[in-house]
Amino acid sequence: MPTARWLGHAAWEIRDGDTTLLLDPFITGNHESPVSADDLAPTAILVTHGHGDHLGDALPVARRSGAVIIAPFELAHYCQRQGAQVHPMHIGGAFTFAWGRVKLTQALHGSAVTGEEIIYTGNPCGFVITLSRPSPAEAGASARAGGRTVYFAGDTGLFGDMKLIGERDKLHLALLPIGGNFTMDIDDAVEAVKLLNCDQVAPMHYGTFPVIAADPQEFKQKVESQTQAQCVVLEPGGSLEY
Ligand code: NI
Ligand code: MN
Repeated sequence: MPTARWLGHAAWEIRDGDTTLLLDPFITGNHESPVSADDLAPTAILVTHGHGDHLGDALPVARRSGAVIIAPFELAHYCQRQGAQVHPMHIGGAFTFAWGRVKLTQALHGSAVTGEEIIYTGNPCGFVITLSRPSPAEAGASARAGGRTVYFAGDTGLFGDMKLIGERDKLHLALLPIGGNFTMDIDDAVEAVKLLNCDQVAPMHYGTFPVIAADPQEFKQKVESQTQAQCVVLEPGGSLEY
């Protein structure tokens, strides 16, 4: 079974066999991070939007390792200009890589690189990732049929079409923000679990900064009393199987 390791905030490492996917790798400057960006050697890096707590270390890791950055078109273009290999996609589109299928979902949020000036990087997204099973060589329709699927919401508010995401793909795991202020809070994320109809859920994007403080045990209690899903609360560095 694939494993999902939480690297703190919204950063995750998904591993299955030879494949390692890095999601929104905010490592440097993330006081919760259990790893150093220098130690990461992913197969691919998936980035939901241009904000610093998501784009994070994607560029240096991509330039050093050669890993491709998968991102919405405008953000991918920005990353390419910064010297990374990229695979641009857009919301509603899916592509089957050698290791599995990625589909981009909408996310209700913004997307820009904010430094001295603001560089607009298009629309933010979420990812539905189905790792190939049983063999990457058979990637395609058979990969979807036998694969394990995770929905990585990115930064988003609650939206009703999460129901459609859960209907289009059987979701074995959902990774959802619960910290409020910039994204869903606990109660909205519980509603998201109901819409997604996922087997398992893990909270993210809380506690890193005071403004997104939230109690993950309250989320777990509400999920497990109001839905059929199992909620796994991880410490940074901890993993779950799905
Ligand atoms: Ni953001
Ligand atoms: Mn964020």
